[in-house]
Amino acid sequence: MELCVNPALVPQRQLFTGASMPAIGIGTFGSDKYGPKEISEAVYGAVRCGYRLIDCAAVYQNEAEIGTSLARLFAEKTVSREDLFITGKVWNDQHRAVEASCRNSLAALGISYFDLYFVHWPFPNYHAPGCDGDSRNPDSKPFSVEEFLDTWRQCEDLVEKGLARHIGMSNMTIPKLEAVLPACRIRPAAIEMELHPAFQQPELFAYVQKRGIAPIGYCPLGSPSRPERDRSEGDIAAMDMPEIREIAARHGIHPALVCLKWAVQRGQTPIPFSVKPAQYRENLRAVTTDPLTEQEMETIRQADRNCRLVKGQVFLWPGAKGWEDLWDLDGTITT
Ligand SMILES: NC(=O)c1ccc[n+]([C@@H]2O[C@H](COP(=O)([O-])OP(=O)(O)OC[C@H]3O[C@@H](n4cnc5c(N)ncnc54)[C@H](OP(=O)(O)O)[C@@H]3O)[C@@H](O)[C@H]2O)c1
Repeated sequence: MELCVNPALVPQRQLFTGASMPAIGIGTFGSDKYGPKEISEAVYGAVRCGYRLIDCAAVYQNEAEIGTSLARLFAEKTVSREDLFITGKVWNDQHRAVEASCRNSLAALGISYFDLYFVHWPFPNYHAPGCDGDSRNPDSKPFSVEEFLDTWRQCEDLVEKGLARHIGMSNMTIPKLEAVLPACRIRPAAIEMELHPAFQQPELFAYVQKRGIAPIGYCPLGSPSRPERDRSEGDIAAMDMPEIREIAARHGIHPALVCLKWAVQRGQTPIPFSVKPAQYRENLRAVTTDPLTEQEMETIRQADRNCRLVKGQVFLWPGAKGWEDLWDLDGTITT
């Protein structure tokens, strides 16, 4: 595949270390629908067409296949390791063995360091890959500041050992960040969180930006292929919102591309997933051409529906009332 966007034209975010991170990346979670072969092929094609940020995680169960694509890209000299920004994530059942998990992921990917390594969820509650929405693990427990900080210390050690250049948190809330940030020896460079026009999280977004932490937005298109366990009645599809469709019609583009233009112009880093070359090519091109107007940005800001899609109910602990408990909606850490 030909280079479709010169990577030098892709907007960049500056992390607190001074390092640059592309303002858009490619996601690699197959939503229990797309397998490792298709996804690794998409990573290969995406890098060839100009993507430089790849969002990986151990629980996506495709690091070895993505590693094969990376080896191909390096062998063909399409890119060198230093040209890429690769993220990884420790899964919930490995919070007491972060270094071993990180080393396994690095070995599978065939690289020697992560640019950014996340704690995927802030508690050790584990669900089997591919489980359904009613699945509960009786060993699940509420968030614990002490346990999270123990996991974070292990992440800090990864930076000191050169296994990760930056570390980050994912699926956090303001009360949890308030509790842990003052105790961080190395602060998070980024927070990965659900962000799309129907779920803009304005308070958390502003909170992290104010602290020089880069917001990375997952499900930037409203995750139309997400697994059954992440679907509930009343969910709003970002790409079907009339405000998004109207702006898309005005620009003569697919609503997906409006979601991505909005995300990059707002200041987050979307990581849209696609295994389809026409889609991932257009997704990258969209953020380098034909920006939204200030008025369109304001229309989308006002269109927020506060509709969280990934509610995380499979992580609930015995005695928890409902998925809202995971997100500290009353402003304090729910235990
Ligand atoms: N940190 C976390 O806890 C967390 C949680 C969830 C996701 N993530 C990360 O975020 C990434 C993205 O999230 P996601 O995959 O759930 O959702 P998404 O990127 O919002 O949606 C991906 C889907 O959108 C459709 N799509 C993509 N480009 C399109 C285009 N140009 N036009 C029309 N449709 C298009 C495709 O659907 P079809 O396949 O049906 O064509 C694709 O499967 C994941 O892959 C993963 O890396 C992280």
